Amino acid sequence: MLIVIPKVFTKAEIGLAQRQLDQADWQDGLLTAGDQARSVKRNQQLADNSALAQKLGDVVLDALAQQPQFMSAALPLKIFPPMFNRYQGGETYGIHVDNAVRFVPGTPTRVRSDLSATLFLSEPEDYEGGELHIQEQFGEQKIKLAAGDMILYPSSSLHQVLPVTQGQRLACVLWMQSMVRDNEHRQMLFDLDQSIQSLSAEHGHQNTDVMRLTGIYQNLLRQWAET
Ligand code: NI
Repeated sequence: MLIVIPKVFTKAEIGLAQRQLDQADWQDGLLTAGDQARSVKRNQQLADNSALAQKLGDVVLDALAQQPQFMSAALPLKIFPPMFNRYQGGETYGIHVDNAVRFVPGTPTRVRSDLSATLFLSEPEDYEGGELHIQEQFGEQKIKLAAGDMILYPSSSLHQVLPVTQGQRLACVLWMQSMVRDNEHRQMLFDLDQSIQSLSAEHGHQNTDVMRLTGIYQNLLRQWAET
């Protein structure tokens, strides 16, 4: 499942992030590329120990924690510190699958990547190319979102970033371990939660059917959640 989380960042937050990123020290994306990525990854990124990456990453995590749709869709258990990247002058990230397990630098923490996300930080009209292509169950999806919007997709998907032939494409990328590992289980919980939200808006939380469905949601989560 691919889920768009709109307006994670406001236009003001985007403007501030762009100004800070314009003055950042960018490094070659190959520095953190594994064997498979090495042959296809051509981009720039902020170092993991960059103060700006840590500061902006915290802003992204705070913004996501306030997005009920993100929390419901991802059911996050652990989120790898957000990374920031830039593509320009033909840079691209060829087709690949994200690493299954990531080690948080300088800590014993490991994060299994169940879900990947890209938060777009440049407006689509500010660059040519740079679409995120994701191969999933229903074919290939081409994603190029407004600055501030985020796409969430299974980390098991093959995906690529097409060459950016003009302008620059700034983005924040995230990997997370979900409390619910199975994509289908997580999708069913998300669908059920969406229905509970719309039914409770119409009939109130105390409605008998809304309460029963909420109980089913919680009991399924109890069956499936790892904490
Ligand atoms: Ni990737």
